[in-house]
Amino acid sequence: MKNKVLVTGGAGFIGSHIVDRLITEGCSVTIFDNLSTGEKRYINSRAIFVQGDVTDRKVVTSLFEKKFDTVFHLAGCASSINSFTNPENDINTARVHRYPGFYMPAQ
Ligand SMILES: NC(=O)c1ccc[n+]([C@@H]2O[C@H](COP(=O)([O-])OP(=O)(O)OC[C@H]3O[C@@H](n4cnc5c(N)ncnc54)[C@H](O)[C@@H]3O)[C@@H](O)[C@H]2O)c1
Repeated sequence: MKNKVLVTGGAGFIGSHIVDRLITEGCSVTIFDNLSTGEKRYINSRAIFVQGDVTDRKVVTSLFEKKFDTVFHLAGCASSINSFTNPENDINTARVHRYPGFYMPAQ
């Protein structure tokens, strides 16, 4: 594992556990989360926290100026009920990989 890691949804259930493990492994971790279902108390105090929405292209593009080695994209809706009532939200959070810089080339 290389050491500069971005975890979207890092204040949520899965993301926060991944963050904790990455920090234990010595990684430098940035969390990007809008706290819609995530919680501040789940945020590892040794991570950098940036509050924002992955559908905000401008904010995400500027976030990627940091040049991460690895991205875990966990921001999304875990509720299937909300997915049916607001499918557009799921589609938008899933397609952020199309933003320039979202994927870094392997080195
Ligand atoms: N928990 C499961 O059993 C399970 C199973 C299969 C897939 N998943 C998927 O894994 C992902 C994470 O699930 P989870 O259980 O950790 O959910 P969760 O709700 O605990 O975490 C999701 C996190 O993403 C954040 N988030 C949501 N939309 C965002 C946005 N537009 N911009 C920035 N942050 C945003 C929330 O605030 C939250 O912290 C989801 O996409 C979910 O559908 C979860």
